[in-house]
Amino acid sequence: MKKITVIGTGYVGLVSGAGISDFGHYVNCADKIESKIKLLQQGEIPIYEPGLDDLVKRNVSTGRLSFTTNVDEAIQTADVIFIAVGTPQGENGEANISAVESVARAIGKNLNNYKVICTKSTVPIGTGDRVCELIRETMPKGGVFDYVSNPEFLREGSAVKDFLWPDRVVIGATSERAFDIMRDVYRPLYVNEKPILHTNVATAEMIKYAANAFLALKISYINEVANLCEKVGADIHQVAKAMGQDGRISPKFLHPGPGYGGSCFPKDTEAIAALSRKKGAPMHTIDAAIITNNEQKIKMTEKLKKLVDDDLTGKTIGVLGLAFKPNTDDVRESSSIDMIQSILDGGGQVHAFDPIANESMKKYFPNLKYFTSWKEACQNTDAVAIMTEWNEFRGLSLDTLKTIMKSPIILDTRNILSIEKLIEYGFRFDNVGRLKIQ
Ligand code: UGA
Repeated sequence: MKKITVIGTGYVGLVSGAGISDFGHYVNCADKIESKIKLLQQGEIPIYEPGLDDLVKRNVSTGRLSFTTNVDEAIQTADVIFIAVGTPQGENGEANISAVESVARAIGKNLNNYKVICTKSTVPIGTGDRVCELIRETMPKGGVFDYVSNPEFLREGSAVKDFLWPDRVVIGATSERAFDIMRDVYRPLYVNEKPILHTNVATAEMIKYAANAFLALKISYINEVANLCEKVGADIHQVAKAMGQDGRISPKFLHPGPGYGGSCFPKDTEAIAALSRKKGAPMHTIDAAIITNNEQKIKMTEKLKKLVDDDLTGKTIGVLGLAFKPNTDDVRESSSIDMIQSILDGGGQVHAFDPIANESMKKYFPNLKYFTSWKEACQNTDAVAIMTEWNEFRGLSLDTLKTIMKSPIILDTRNILSIEKLIEYGFRFDNVGRLKIQ
C-alpha cells in the first residue's frame, strides 16, 4: 500500500484523500489552514457533501486517513503527493495558480527521495511544466521525481460517488514508472475494469477543461433553445427529451434553468476561453456559452420583475434555494445571487431559505432575512422564486403556499412544479421554456 499525501482539503482534496484511503492506501491530508485541520481531526467535516462524513469516519477509524498542518513532514513521508489546492479566477479570466506554485516549491524543498507529484487541481494547460520547473529549482541536488496530471471529474453533491465509481480515470504521465504507481493507487478501479486513460500531461490537462467547457456549452445551448421555445409555443422538456433519446446527444445536462453556477463551470469556461485567445486558437463557442449564461441569469431577474408588474418597490420576495445546485452548501456563482441583488436593487425585500446553504449566503448578503423552512420564508410574500431544485421544493404544497402568500405569484427557474397544479390553484407563474399562463 502506498503512502499518499494530499495537499489542500477543499472539495477535491478532501473527497480524493478520503476516497484513496478507501482504496486501501495510507493518506495524510495536509492543509496550512489550522482551523480546517482542527475540525477534521475532531471528526467534523467542514463542507456539506453527502456520504463524505461516513467515508472519512470509516477510514480514520482504520488508521488509513489522517490530517495535518505539517505540510513539510507530510511531503517527506509520502510516495505520491496530490496537489489539490484552489485555482481561483485571476486576471483576464485565466486561472490563478499561485497556490499550486507555492506547493510546488514546498515539495521541492522537502524532496528527500523519489516521489510522484500529481496535480488534481484544475490548472491551465502547461502548468505541469511550471510545477516541474519550480520543484527542480528548489529541490536538493540529485532529487528525483516524476510528474503526473490526474484531473478530477467529481461533481459537488455527488462527489463521493463520482470518486469511487468514476466513468474514467485520466492519468497524464510521461514516465512509465509514474504511470504504474498511479495505476496502483487506483487499483480497485483498474481491477473493476474502469477505463484508465494514459495520456501525456498536456492532454490530461486539456481533457479536464474540454469536458467542463463542453458541459457548460450544452447547458447554455439548452437554455437558448428553452428561450426560443417560449417564443414559439414549444415545450423545452419534450424537446430536450427527444433530443436526448438520440444516443449521440445523450439526455444528460440538457436541463434548462437559471444559468450554471458553482466553482467550476464559470471559472473553467473563462480560463479555457482566455487560454484559447492567448494561444491564437480562439474558442468562439465557449465565449458564446459564457455570454448566454450571464444573460440567462439576468433573464430570470427580468421574469420575476414582469410577474410583479415591473415594480419590486416595497415587495417581499421569497427566494427558495440559494446553493448553485442541490445537495451542496456552495453558493459560489449561484444564480440566486443575481436574483437577490436585483430584488434589493429594485427596492424589494428578500426572505431567503435554503435547506443547507443559508450560512454560506450570509457571507454575500449578511443583512437578508433567512428562514429555516420554506413555509416561514414564503409567509406574507408578494412572490416566490425557486432557484435550486432541492427535492423538498419539488413536493411543496401549492395549496399551503397559496394560503400563506400575499399573492399567488411564482417563478420556477428549475421547472420543478406541475403546470397543471399551478393552473388549478390559480397561480400567476413563469418558468423556463414551458407553457405559462399570466
Ligand atoms: C462540474 C462537473 O460536472 C464535474 O464533472 C467536474 O469535476 C466539476 O465541475 C469540477 O470541475 O470540479 P459541479 O460544478 O459540481 O461539477 O456541478 P454540476 O453538476 O456540473 O452543475 C454545474 C451547474 O450547472 C449547476 O449550477 C447546475 O444547476 C447547472 N446545470 C447542470 C444545469 O443548469 N442544467 C443541467 O442540465 C445540468
